[in-house]
Amino acid sequence: MSHIDISRNTFTITTPLYYVNDLPHIGSAYTTMAADAVARFERLRGKSVLLITGTDEHGQKIQRTAQSNGVEPQVHCDQIAAGFEELWQKLNIQYDRFSRTTASRHASIVKEFFSRVWDKGDIYLGQQKGWYCVSCEEFKEERDLLAEHRCPIHPNKEAEWRDEQNYFFALSKYQSQLEALYQERPNFIQPESRRNEVLSFVRQGLQDFSISRVNVDWGFPVPVDPNHTIYVWFDALLGYVTALLDPDQEPTLENALRKWWPINLHLIGKDILRFHAVYWPAMLMSAEIPVSEHVFGHGFLTKDGQKMGKSLGNTLNPVELVNRYGADAIRYYFLKEIEFGKDGDFNETRFIDIVNADLANDLGNLLNRTLKMVQKYCHSRVPEVKDEEEEEILVDNPLKAIGWELSERVARSYEALAFGEACREIFTLIRAGNKFIDDQAPWSLYKQGNLPAVGKVLYTVLESVRLAAYLLSPIIPSISTEIYRQLGFSIDFNEKTLIKDSATYSTHAAWGTLPAHQSLGEPKPVFARLEQA
Ligand code: MSP
Repeated sequence: MSHIDISRNTFTITTPLYYVNDLPHIGSAYTTMAADAVARFERLRGKSVLLITGTDEHGQKIQRTAQSNGVEPQVHCDQIAAGFEELWQKLNIQYDRFSRTTASRHASIVKEFFSRVWDKGDIYLGQQKGWYCVSCEEFKEERDLLAEHRCPIHPNKEAEWRDEQNYFFALSKYQSQLEALYQERPNFIQPESRRNEVLSFVRQGLQDFSISRVNVDWGFPVPVDPNHTIYVWFDALLGYVTALLDPDQEPTLENALRKWWPINLHLIGKDILRFHAVYWPAMLMSAEIPVSEHVFGHGFLTKDGQKMGKSLGNTLNPVELVNRYGADAIRYYFLKEIEFGKDGDFNETRFIDIVNADLANDLGNLLNRTLKMVQKYCHSRVPEVKDEEEEEILVDNPLKAIGWELSERVARSYEALAFGEACREIFTLIRAGNKFIDDQAPWSLYKQGNLPAVGKVLYTVLESVRLAAYLLSPIIPSISTEIYRQLGFSIDFNEKTLIKDSATYSTHAAWGTLPAHQSLGEPKPVFARLEQA
């Protein structure tokens, strides 16, 4: 299930380019938090990472939204795109590129790509008849629609009948090449359930799809026929390519593909799987560009067990959530609690219970009480553990036994995008730390005058918290930074220029890194308990 190619030192990861019909919703925040966690983990262990996010700004949906708001489409797009960037700042997303499909450099890339596919003979003029869901920006098969031609994803909207001349992309030509791709690269589409979905869709036989629109101005003109506008999805997928350009590079395909291609991982929601796992690889094959390495389709979020939607009045506003609870709590809940790939639910009571139990009680309190003991018994410095005691610790210390190979297990979990599993592995150490300190009762050892034993116990607990904080830093970067600070380090996990190389990773991901005598910070809670509303 790994998405890592160890032969490359670069790692390119994308979120979808979000529609700007509205401000970001929790679904867009979810994918972006996951992508950020993966990107941070890969950076931590020394990869050169490019995290791409951005906005998909063309097409009828956006054109109509701007119209109904009474503003020019570009003005509307600028406002909403700024809202996305603002949320990503609040959520501590360390993105490298924010790709906007209305950028002029993107126009050049789309034009060049279109001509490659045109020259290949894969584009032709035809008649498009069918039901179009403007919200999905997708033609739907009649059999997939609900009563009154309503789209199952947007049941409050009727699909619209279209009968018009469009340019088509010859997808059917790529049927066998696509089937070969899925065979040869069994983990191209993850998780397995999504792969099966795609396989059965492709097995039904692929149909060419239209890549131009008439009566939609908001988009790029078709280079060979300016009466047509390029279909928003054809343009949007290429936004990933434009994003690879350095800011001052001339916008050519050759430049864009030089350093960061092929993209290692596209993270998407399950509703846009076909576009990424079928249309996109076929488009790339047509243009003779190597296909991206992996596509991972995550599940959908519900609130209190119900589908979210504006008409249902139960949407979750990510800006409000993060203002109320802070970025780390939100990041932690969604990544730890929801199995990535499956649908998952947000319930406020459960959310508060979980972050209080894990972050405030288990992790925060353990650090706090241990630091206070170190203050009292060891003059606020990391106790020294002698070499022979080190040996002993290895044999009879349950924390070292867990911590010893923890980073390897956690790395496997991050690689598999199993964020929940990564957290559970790490919290095994933290829970063992709480038990250990209760069992060993350093306060009694101190009363007995057994100072070496006090030092040993406190060292192992502090080291456990340190290792946990390091490995959790892709998920809760601010809490990890605060833990590191109280442990006497000056490492800010939110600092992009922080030195991240494989040597630093090997040191910090290993057991026993906390230096003896390091002077410790003032103990204070790293995560304030949240109150139930
Ligand atoms: N613009 C296209 C993507 C083009 S990529 C070249 C698009 N945008 S979107 O804004 O509508 O959707 C973005 C993402 O949000 C999708 O991955 C979608 O799956 C996700 N989600 C929308 N609602 C969601 C939930 N309720 N839960 C989780 N993710 C959801 O599609």
